[in-house]
Amino acid sequence: MAPGGLYNRHARVQSSAAVFAGPLLQRAAQEASLPPAGEAVVFADYGCATGRNSNHPAAIAIRALRAREDRPVLVVHEDQPENDFATLFGTIEAEPDGYLRMFDRVSACAVGRSFYQPTLPAGFVSVGWSSAAAHWLSRVPTPLPGHLWAPTARSAQGAAFSKQARDDWARFLALRADELRVGGRLVIVVATVDQDGICGGEQILDGLNRAVQELVAAGALSSDDYASMVVPCFFLSEAELEAPFHREDLAGRLHLIEHARTVSPDPLWSAFETTGDREALASAFTGWVRGFSEPCLFGSLELPPTQRRALADQAYAALEREIRSHPENARCAWRSAALLVGKR
Ligand SMILES: C[S@@+](CC[C@H](N)C(=O)[O-])C[C@H]1O[C@@H](n2cnc3c(N)ncnc32)[C@H](O)[C@@H]1O
Repeated sequence: MAPGGLYNRHARVQSSAAVFAGPLLQRAAQEASLPPAGEAVVFADYGCATGRNSNHPAAIAIRALRAREDRPVLVVHEDQPENDFATLFGTIEAEPDGYLRMFDRVSACAVGRSFYQPTLPAGFVSVGWSSAAAHWLSRVPTPLPGHLWAPTARSAQGAAFSKQARDDWARFLALRADELRVGGRLVIVVATVDQDGICGGEQILDGLNRAVQELVAAGALSSDDYASMVVPCFFLSEAELEAPFHREDLAGRLHLIEHARTVSPDPLWSAFETTGDREALASAFTGWVRGFSEPCLFGSLELPPTQRRALADQAYAALEREIRSHPENARCAWRSAALLVGKR
């Protein structure tokens, strides 16, 4: 995600997609097995980014755990090594809702490693949480000419992305099964597709794609660079999300306790409906899209950083102009899934 607080400032959409999973997380913390008396309880936050959306779930889990036993809690924030962990530690400590300010005898630490690899010792975690993260792929399975992402199987090249996403999801679950204590609980929130294959936000990068194509047409970006640009997310269906729990290798270790699904409210569109302020919608929408897409789209271009930044500025400014004139292109109806999982 974008470093330096940009993701934090524009993470309202991800936050509102995760709100409906709050009761599942509370239940997870009420039911999870705890380590032997006197030891700290471990809460793991997989794919934490810069912490804006970690404070609320951490507070839910800590409150529910403390209602059971007055024990120290260790919160482990996990993300990719290049994540901006400095901003994360500022957010959990210094923000008004920072959980380190709100609770005593709570410690925080970070692990900088892909969650498609082992990240913590076996049997270490009592309660796990992962929101808006496990639909990010471990790799781009195939080039995606003419598009910036393939969020669903209905997209161009969707089949290769679908296979990658199903493999990654099974791997994510198997690794978390290792890291959970027996009787531990894990809540995972991801974007999903409904029975018609709709995710509710498939159009969000279309305007940016047009802007990037204009950069290519103007000679500011090479077509090879454009061809390498992709946001590696993919959203699975209800059946695909549940499939690994029926596989012999995983079924003996993890069980699916509840699978909640909803169409998440769109906080940016709701604000626009109230105010009618196109400038504010265009700015908020572009900030949100930039917060999650700039590092993967522009970060790996082999250009000097100032040139990369200038190209990104041009593309996102064009997206903002487009949303000002066509606000309806910013409207989303995200299909979200939350899975409560237990370790046998
Ligand atoms: C959209 S952010 C969500 C952040 C936060 N959980 C939230 O709800 O706002 C997705 C996060 O997942 C992380 N992520 C993606 N792939 C990952 C991987 N393979 N290992 C660890 N983290 C990953 C990204 O680095 C990013 O910080």
